[in-house]
Amino acid sequence: MRDEARDQRGSMPAHVAIIMDGNGRWAERRGMSRLNGHRKGAEVVREVVRACPELGLRHLTLFAFSTENWKRPAREVLGLMALFRRYIRAEADELASKGVRVRFIGERGRLHPSLQKLMAALETRTAGNDELVLTIALNYGGRDELARAARALARRVAAGEIEADAVTGDSLAAELDTCGLPDPDLVIRTSGEMRISNFLLWQAAYAEYAFIDALWPDFGAPEFERVLAEFAKRERRFGAVTA
Ligand code: IPE
Ligand code: IPE
Ligand code: MG
Repeated sequence: MRDEARDQRGSMPAHVAIIMDGNGRWAERRGMSRLNGHRKGAEVVREVVRACPELGLRHLTLFAFSTENWKRPAREVLGLMALFRRYIRAEADELASKGVRVRFIGERGRLHPSLQKLMAALETRTAGNDELVLTIALNYGGRDELARAARALARRVAAGEIEADAVTGDSLAAELDTCGLPDPDLVIRTSGEMRISNFLLWQAAYAEYAFIDALWPDFGAPEFERVLAEFAKRERRFGAVTA
């Protein structure tokens, strides 16, 4: 770790969320199929996850597949699903032994049962770990998550379990897939696009954003460290005024 990053550990974010974008363009620029870009992207995921303990980061959330990504050609979608299965199988031992707790957010019902099974098994296997909480957003959309939470609350009101007036920001947040996770302090998006693409709409209300030009396969631990050092210099006000 560079001294600069170490000195600023006090201002480290508790939770960083990343929109890993640019795999397809990375591959296309090399005359390769988009899936090759996704494969290279998975290697970068490994590098970034490994860097977290040294950086003192306790919560990392990665956007792997959005509720809108089903619109892509079937070949790419199937290839991504196969890659998710391969990633879980290949990484499970290392994640479990390094103290990483893995959880998945998103709507699981549309995923292949074999993938759902691998996800649930990895969550169970790593449930007792607490060095790093790695949250993987798979078939995740912020609007879908909020609609599911609203339905869950409506059902509880209809069943007479809670009063409609008892619905608050906290009770809504408790129904989200991210229940129990701190809100992200920093959202990073690679590939130069400056949009949130339906990621953590509720949770990122006061997140800082970092839009990085590098495509995700060109990102890595050194760039990650640089973004964190830049975050440490920002002043967050949460609507208040500086003392
Ligand atoms: C991000 O890379 C990965 C997923 C959305 C699954 P893209 O596949 O969106 O890459 P670009 O944006 O087309 O370059
Ligand atoms: C966001 O990237 C989703 C993931 C990184 C998984 P997209 O590439 O799907 O977003 P848009 O379509 O450019 O907004
Ligand atoms: Mg993209």
